[in-house]
Amino acid sequence: MSTTRRSAAEAYEKTNTRIFPSSGAAAKELAAEVRKLIEERAKQSKHVVLGMATGSTPVPFYRELIRLHKEEKLSFKNVITFNLDEYYGLGADHPESYARFMADQIFDHIDIPKENINIPSGKVTSDQVFAHCRDYEEKIDSLGGIDLQILGIGRTGHIGFNEPGSSRDSLTRRITLDRVTRQDAAADFRGEENVPHFAITMGVGTILRGKKLVLMAWGDNKADMVAKAVEGPMTEAISASFLQGHADAHFYIDTGASRELTRIKLPWLVGPVSWTPRETRRAVCWQAFQTKRPVLKLIDEHYNEHGLSDLLSEQGPAYQLNIRIFNQMQHTITGWPGGKPNEDDTYRPERASPYPKRCLVLSPEPQDAVVAMGSTIERLGEQGNDVHIVAMTSGNLRVSDSEADKFAGTLQELAGVVENPAAWGPQTAYAREALRLLEEKGEFGEDPPLIRQLKALILRGELRDAAHACSVSTERVVFMDLPFYEQGRYRRFKSTEADVEALVELLREHKPHQIYATGDAADPSSVSGLCFKVLSAALKVCAAEEWAANCSIWLYRGKEKALEPHEIDMAIPLSPMQLERKARALSRYGSLSSLELASPESNRQNARNYDALGLAEYEAIECFQKWRRA
Ligand code: F6R
Repeated sequence: MSTTRRSAAEAYEKTNTRIFPSSGAAAKELAAEVRKLIEERAKQSKHVVLGMATGSTPVPFYRELIRLHKEEKLSFKNVITFNLDEYYGLGADHPESYARFMADQIFDHIDIPKENINIPSGKVTSDQVFAHCRDYEEKIDSLGGIDLQILGIGRTGHIGFNEPGSSRDSLTRRITLDRVTRQDAAADFRGEENVPHFAITMGVGTILRGKKLVLMAWGDNKADMVAKAVEGPMTEAISASFLQGHADAHFYIDTGASRELTRIKLPWLVGPVSWTPRETRRAVCWQAFQTKRPVLKLIDEHYNEHGLSDLLSEQGPAYQLNIRIFNQMQHTITGWPGGKPNEDDTYRPERASPYPKRCLVLSPEPQDAVVAMGSTIERLGEQGNDVHIVAMTSGNLRVSDSEADKFAGTLQELAGVVENPAAWGPQTAYAREALRLLEEKGEFGEDPPLIRQLKALILRGELRDAAHACSVSTERVVFMDLPFYEQGRYRRFKSTEADVEALVELLREHKPHQIYATGDAADPSSVSGLCFKVLSAALKVCAAEEWAANCSIWLYRGKEKALEPHEIDMAIPLSPMQLERKARALSRYGSLSSLELASPESNRQNARNYDALGLAEYEAIECFQKWRRA
């Protein structure tokens, strides 16, 4: 099922690393290992001590454990658990506490005795913290230590909440969360300002005392950190790198998270390569960046000196290889994302006919598409195509209470200034109820349906406005409100048949010639990861239908790692004015994160990359990859 590291990669990879085709496959494998351990110990009437993690990473693993319990009668009666960490200040009943997370995600669904569950308390007073942490350590040791420790990795490279600077020997303690970690938790807490500043976490030393460690990571966004932790030096700057010093530590990662490993990124440094067109393009672009020369100025020596002599002998000399790759890249550039009508399209990314095309731009949360491809949307419409922007989920969890409060307050006030206040009865009652519910639920309480609805309406308004800025009229903005989102919270979403059916219906209604989508490289439990899964399933249902066979699917990147030049199949150049208009459209959203607001800068970087390769110099570029369905 998985790719174990090849021996030549060992020179680079300092911890055992297995790349699985999906998080599901990795989770299944790990759950099977855990099952074996539990059953072996049960036979000897012994207990197993598991170290547990929270966050989105372990979710597929916990789901598989629950399945093993429910369907295959795996009992957890002899299991004792210790969680890695807890936010300091949050009680076990707080919706974002890790205690609550563990109850929702696993403990309430299996037969583990409550007294076997250990989670640091976020509510001990400051003067008790030291003793609480010491007791936690002692309890782990008194039970014989942790047999298997599950880990995730944060964008700071942390394990547990061991932020940069945590020493190799650190023990359970209270720490200050890094700014990046707090930004990553901002969506869960509906705003960075609500994320606790402190946490109690097992130390690196505590974790390393575990007999076996498995760190899981999914999606592109983890790729940089995984590579640094696996291949870089052991350093306090990246606590996950300390796994290199443990005799039985393993990384279980999916293909997205493996992208920056040398064996994937620069496979020619590790062993023989099958020179597919994509790998060839990757090698030539890398070569150009490495030598700081445009593609057409690379010479045989450059290839030979950088481990690419076999590519040269297979496809060289450099002069010809360069021209071929240059032309391929040149052909990715087009001002006509929907195809240029009545033109030879042999070398264009999109076919000329049919024209105009019906284009569906799928946006997992309302803002995603405009952020990533606002200028392309505008271009498609200007060129006569029939463009619909589809907000797949309502996105209501993004909207802060203060925004909702502002809107409800305005609505209530309106009733006082209109000519016939009596006719405004229902609106006033709605506003009053919203304000009451906001007050009642407090800062961290779960949003009741009316508040979620109000927040969704706010985002609808923002998307209509942003769509207008991209020249897409209101009636061409579709709100799907997929059910999985309405029933969940971040990291706890689960798509079902109902989501797929809703999308199938929409696709059949529109019979698009082009679909723009995202999420293929995302963490599969994120909103965009789930939306992509729903799209894949919907397309499978429609596979035999004529429109589906003729539909091209273009993938864009939103919050995930940008496409690298060799991955790009269509590059839409933006003039300075177009980029300016896009930035203005983005400013219509009150709920964008700093990462999303930086999208124009990432578009500029795409243009700088093309320029460095010796292609035309533009202000900015929006990039797409063609989805080649299996
Ligand atoms: C959670 C924990 C953290 C997370 C890490 C990744 O108990 O210890 O180290 O594993 O922040 O979080 P996700 O999985 O949400 O990306």
